Amino acid sequence: MSKRIEVKDLNVYYSKFLAVEGVTMTIEPRSVTAFIGPSGCGKSTFIRTLNRMHEVIPNARVEGKVLMDGNNLYDPGVDPVLVRRQVGMVFQRPNPFPTMSIRENVIAGAKLNNQRMSKKEGDELVERSLRGANLWEEVKDRLDRPGAGLSGGQQQRLCIARAIAVSPEVILMDEPCSALDPISTLAIEDLIEELKKDYTIVIVTHNMQQASRVSDRTAFFNIAGTGKPGKLIEYDNTDTIFSNPSVQATEDYVSGKFG
Ligand SMILES: Nc1ncnc2c1ncn2[C@@H]1O[C@H](COP(=O)(O)OP(=O)(O)OP(=O)(O)O)[C@@H](O)[C@H]1O
Ligand SMILES: [Mg+2]
Repeated sequence: MSKRIEVKDLNVYYSKFLAVEGVTMTIEPRSVTAFIGPSGCGKSTFIRTLNRMHEVIPNARVEGKVLMDGNNLYDPGVDPVLVRRQVGMVFQRPNPFPTMSIRENVIAGAKLNNQRMSKKEGDELVERSLRGANLWEEVKDRLDRPGAGLSGGQQQRLCIARAIAVSPEVILMDEPCSALDPISTLAIEDLIEELKKDYTIVIVTHNMQQASRVSDRTAFFNIAGTGKPGKLIEYDNTDTIFSNPSVQATEDYVSGKFG
């Protein structure tokens, strides 16, 4: 578990529109990497290229490479479905499957991979994943109730349980706390701290305190203007980005002067 991601000269397009240009960066395993930057600079676009989700949009494409432990995700012959199994994603709005119980939500993805899972294997996976997502104690007595009946923060942890149930190597999170209250946000942040022992974690956040609390490395993205591509401006240890960045635009952004 937990892989190193190397991005090389990545350009990301929506049809002819170059949304993100020339990203080269290495994301370390067993660490948390935060992506920050003003709205529209391409953070969501870029993070979705790390599990080949960008290309589900018609006419969307990428140029360049994304290597996971040396293997290019964009090599011909690589199955994007397998990539998405290795690289899980958690979204801004908690999105448990609405008609499924808590239990079914957790094992939904794993069941696609292993149709013959026994009841016992399923039970073990559900408990392990919910414990991993710090949700077990809160839901163990109501596993057959609808996932949609949980609070927002619990639903988000359910989505994290669902993501880790398929044993991914990498977990991508695009503003996972933006719809949550401060207590649930702290619960997710604690969970991220736990998960980084086993996974490579990338998190997009608009919350500077959150980036500095949870991440080891921070990447600042920016755009020069409307219609211009987003670019990676500075990437360094989180402490350095927040206390002593090299680029003026980073300093202005993290100190709240714009964005
Ligand atoms: N499906 C799409 N089709 C065409 N253009 C898109 C699409 N999704 C995003 N874009 C454009 O790509 C650029 C980057 O958008 P993106 O959503 O990646 O920004 P972001 O940094 O995640 O912003 P935010 O902080 O608001 O979430 C924007 O100009 C946006 O309008
Ligand atoms: Mg976004």
